[in-house]
Amino acid sequence: MSNYKIALIRGDGIGPEVVNEAVRVMEQVGARFGHSFTFEDVLMGGCATDAVGKSYPDGTAERCKACDAVLLGAVGGPKWGSDRPAYERPETALLAIRKDLGLYANLRPAMLRPALAEASPLKKETAQAGIDLMMVRELTGGIYFGKRDKYRTEDRGLEATDLMAYSELEIERIGRRAFELAMLRRKKVTSVDKANVLETSRLWRATMHRLAKEYPEVTYEDMLVDNCAMQIVRNPGQFDVVVTENMFGDILSDEASMVTGSIGLLPSASIGDTAPGLYEPIHGSAPDIAGQDKADPIATILSVAMMFRYSFGLAQEADAVETAVDAVLAQGWHTADIAGAADKLVGTKEMGRLICEAIGG
Ligand code: IPM
Ligand code: MG
Repeated sequence: MSNYKIALIRGDGIGPEVVNEAVRVMEQVGARFGHSFTFEDVLMGGCATDAVGKSYPDGTAERCKACDAVLLGAVGGPKWGSDRPAYERPETALLAIRKDLGLYANLRPAMLRPALAEASPLKKETAQAGIDLMMVRELTGGIYFGKRDKYRTEDRGLEATDLMAYSELEIERIGRRAFELAMLRRKKVTSVDKANVLETSRLWRATMHRLAKEYPEVTYEDMLVDNCAMQIVRNPGQFDVVVTENMFGDILSDEASMVTGSIGLLPSASIGDTAPGLYEPIHGSAPDIAGQDKADPIATILSVAMMFRYSFGLAQEADAVETAVDAVLAQGWHTADIAGAADKLVGTKEMGRLICEAIGG
């Protein structure tokens, strides 16, 4: 019997609703496998701005660090837009927590779940070939964290710059994660860069080539980012692990999730060299449906499965959650984001209950 302490960042919009269901799933898994969970609420995001005037209240990172893992619902919304100062914007909090917890590796699996092959916007033949790729996005470096500037020039008006910098250390540690993951999967790594233009990409590529020699069992390839964007819609079945820098990963991971037709179903994990890791659905806070019991809790529930697998080494428990989700979807139950029979349409809470029931215990 073990006890795990989980920080819950419920956040904004549909965040609190989907986190509630994920908590029920954790408790169900605990009952079946003999674990217990203690939950600690941590305020962050637009709700924190409303409550205390800052999206990332003092002590947020410390409170998370006192836990074994962090589960985040969603933060953000039009109410806290770019007209607000940085410290009031939810995105600032997201970037800060990534940096403060050292979460340099962002794992975003894009998988076409068997029960949902019809939901993919891809051509039938392409979708039938299956999609099961793992996007490994560098999360604490590059242009997201480089020096920014804005100044007035003499003859061209205002000018702004964002610096993209990468060190060998940063590239090597994310690369290693990708190769290690590939060893547990189909043993293929595609490293995505823009080495025909960018110096950071040339360093990226040289470092990846060095690493590839340490993993002779892994098939390695380089791919330029523009080509990768095209290949994800042309033939996503070719990818196993895709590793790339922060901004390319931001863009490509949205694209990869969309071709599975189910952005409401996709989880993610952000991890570093030390606990806690942070787990969250890929989707946003969907303020238009917040508080209406309409949101799909599956992406958050699958994020819990990733937490079990990557933070706690509980593979069986992770499998139990994923199997339960697949079983419920295969029976035709769905929330409004997924097409299906009208008499099998359920709300957030009922979806959570069905998944708990399928986990059993
Ligand atoms: C994501 C989001 C964030 C990012 C935004 C909200 C800052 O798009 O997690 O992909 O760009 O990293
Ligand atoms: Mg994004």
